[in-house]
Formats: sequence, structure tokens, C-alpha cells
Amino acid sequence: MANVTVIGAQWGDEGKGKIVDWLASRADVVVRFQGGHNAGHTLVVGDQVYKLSLLPSGVVRGTLSVIGNGVVLDPWHFRDEVAKLRAQGVNVSPETLQVAETCPLILPLHRDLDALREDASGAGKIGTTRRGIGPAYEDKAGRRAIRVCDLAHLDDLGPQLDRLCAHHDALRAGFGQPPVDRDALMADLREVADFVLPYAKPVWLTLGGQREWGKRILFEGAQGVLLDVDHGTYPFVTSSNTVSGTAASGSGLGPSAAGFVLGIVKAYTTRVGSGPFPTEQDNDVGERLGTRGHEFGTVTGRKRRCGWFDAVLVRQALAVAGVTGIALTKLDVLDGFDELKICTGYRLNGKNYGYLPPHARDQASVEPVYETVEGWSGSTAGARSWAELPAPAVKYIRRIEELIGCPVALVSTSPEREDTILVRDPFRD
Ligand code: GDP
Ligand code: IMO
Ligand code: MG
Repeated sequence: MANVTVIGAQWGDEGKGKIVDWLASRADVVVRFQGGHNAGHTLVVGDQVYKLSLLPSGVVRGTLSVIGNGVVLDPWHFRDEVAKLRAQGVNVSPETLQVAETCPLILPLHRDLDALREDASGAGKIGTTRRGIGPAYEDKAGRRAIRVCDLAHLDDLGPQLDRLCAHHDALRAGFGQPPVDRDALMADLREVADFVLPYAKPVWLTLGGQREWGKRILFEGAQGVLLDVDHGTYPFVTSSNTVSGTAASGSGLGPSAAGFVLGIVKAYTTRVGSGPFPTEQDNDVGERLGTRGHEFGTVTGRKRRCGWFDAVLVRQALAVAGVTGIALTKLDVLDGFDELKICTGYRLNGKNYGYLPPHARDQASVEPVYETVEGWSGSTAGARSWAELPAPAVKYIRRIEELIGCPVALVSTSPEREDTILVRDPFRD
């Protein structure tokens, strides 16, 4: 298979950035296809740490990078992230980075609405990144969005802006907020347009050409399957489809483009924001996982909730996302535990469940059924070959494979790029 699609198989932050960066050395082009700057992908190369929210992780290696039509793009954030990477010595230019002309824009009014809703929701809030992602996707589906290509036609924007502002002014009034300042918005758009437009391209054409020439395309998913708007723990989800099928629709290629679907799976579970989390450990175990795993959000700095590995959720996520193989990450964080627990099923109202029921209240009430496995006193940190892993760590991996019904292709043992064990090459399979 020429292409690889990387997706998160839990609630995000599985280590997609590290794996995409590692795989990018074998790819010709790296593509983001959904989400926006709600993502936070961390790459560690020697003493340099790169934190990417919107740009494909391929930019760090200078691999051709593409932001597909399925992404919602905050043009001011785009400019800032390019500047930040340049300040870190990364060469980012329209030669190496392309943005779909059809990407809907995230505007300040989307950020406002995201925050107003969250602040008004009290205990029911989703815990979004407050970056305007949901409201921007709503406007895309509502056919009110301003898109990248509109930046080249700002003098004609009047009627479109009327429709958009009529919608938002009504919502804002409901929150006791003043109408959108249209003059300020237009001035801001004019100011940012010159920066963004050189990157704007018909990326479907670029990617179609790459496919024709037999180039290897690496699709970089953001968030995770459990945050998918259809398959996730609704309503505590993001507003895009995070599964592999979106790689095609979100970049302008047909459904066979996805190739090998690599699900990124953390060796335990984390979640940031609200919503059900059956194996959450609000105790010493959770603290230990969070401390050893440095589980703080890349985007918001929030402490991530931590818990044991949930094989039920991962099996379900891999099934709905069509995953071919997994990369198991952060195995080293489990070093030193005497024993580990794996969730193998749920109990709810006296019944056994082998999947997560769809209703939010049931999801919050399921009791995990655990299997206890032996931990290891040796270290996996920094291991680059299977032979370096302690025997109980190998057993843990094999048991996970069995429970989720999917083979391990890669194992990650530290944040560092090269601390990765290759079991099965996704680009060769
Ligand atoms: P992403 O959103 O899926 O790209 O993941 P994040 O970058 O938000 O979070 C993953 C964190 O774990 C980052 O700080 C990575 O540097 C780090 N990380 C990735 N893989 C490993 C690993 O195998 N071991 C350890 N200890 N850290 C890792
Ligand atoms: P990466 O790509 C973890 C979560 C938010 C919130 C919910 C909705 O780094 O894995 P949104 O701002 O998207 O409307 O928030 O989704 N969320 C993430 N959690 N990793 C992410 O991205 C996330 N992107 C969004 O915390 O619960
Ligand atoms: Mg992240």
C-alpha cells in the first residue's frame, strides 16, 4: 500500500505527532484532513520540541505538507504557527505547504460563540478548546462559511457576510452580546489575506498528481475516534469525523486513498475535557500515570484525566475506523507498576456489555470489568528493538493485541523520534 492514514484510537493525545513525524521520513507528502487548531501534536527531535496545532507534522522535516478541505482554518493562527516554526528554524513556505482553497475559516465570532456557550453550560459543558471549532463546522454545514478562496474576493463578500452576521448577531443577542463588528472583521480579513493566499492551492489536484506518480501520502488525523461526532462519546466530542474515511473526503481523494490505517493507541487511557471515562483512576494510579506521562494538554495546558487501558473502547474504535494495525505508544509510562489492569468488558444494570452503549448516561454508569496482568520492574524507556523489552511488557502487548483483535505495527518507548520499535512497516504492507 502506498499510503498510510494515522488516526487516534482513543480520546486524542495518543502520540500521533511523534508517529507521524517518524513515518514522515518515508513519505512524500503529509496531509491534515479534519479538525483545526484544537489539535496539539508534539514532536521531540534532540533538544528541540515542536508543538503543532494546525500545520501537518511533515513541515518539520521539510516534507511537502497539505491542509485539506476538511480542516477548519483560523487564518490568524495559521500565520502565528508558521511564524513560530520559522523562529525554531523550520523552513515553511508555499513551496512546502499548501492549504485547500475550500477550507472554511474560523473567525473571531466562532471563538466568541464557543466560549459563550461553554461559559453558559455550567456542569454540562463539553470542555472544548474554545478555539471556535464547533461553531465553524456548524457554519460550514449551514452554508454560511467564509472560505480561504473568499480571501481573494473580499470586495464581493458583502451578501455572504450579511447572512453570516444575521445568524451570529441573533445568537449573540441571546447571550446579551453586541452584534459582530463587521468593519473590524473585514479589516482583519484584509490584513491576513495577503499572508494566507500564497499558500492557497487546489490541493485535490496536487494530491491527485502525487497519487498518479506513485508518491507516498501520509494522512495525519487529529483528535481520536472516541471524539468523532458520529462514533464518539456524544455529545462530549469534537465536531468533525475523526475516522479514516475522512482522509479521503477531507482532502479530495477517493475512498481507496487511505491505504494502511494505523491507529495510534496509548498503553493506558487519557481524556481532556468532560464526558464519560469508564476506566478513569481519580486516585494514586491516575496521578502516577499523569506525572510519568506528563499528561497536560498541549493546546490548553489542562491536566488530562488518566486511567487503565480500556480494550473494549479500543476494539470498538478500531472497528468503526477500519484500522489495519496499531502503534502502541507510551509503553514506558507503565514501567515500574507491580501490576496493571486492562478493562475487558462492562457491567450495566446486571448485564454484560462488550461495547460502549450509546447513551451518555449509560456511558457514565458502566462498571468496567478488569483483568489484572503482571507489571515489570525493568525499563522499556528508549527501547528501539523488541529484544530490549522485559518479558512481562511483551506479554502486556500480546494480550492487548488479542483483546483488541488487531496487530501491533509500531511501539513507542519515549517522546524522542527514534525511540520507536518497528514491527511491521505500514508503508510496505
Ligand atoms: P497527539 O495529540 O496524539 O500528537 O499527542 P500529544 O503530542 O498531544 O501528546 C503525546 C505526548 O506524549 C507528547 O508530549 C509526546 O511527546 C509524548 N510521547 C509520545 N510518544 C511517547 C512515548 O512513547 N513515551 C513517552 N513517555 N512520551 C511519548
Ligand atoms: P489531538 O489532535 C485531545 C477535545 C476537547 C473537548 C472536545 C471538544 O491533540 O489529539 P473542540 O475544541 O474540538 O470543540 O473540543 O474535544 N479535544 C481534544 N482532546 N486531543 C485533541 O487533539 C483534542 N481536540 C479536541 O478537550 O473535550
Ligand atoms: Mg494532542
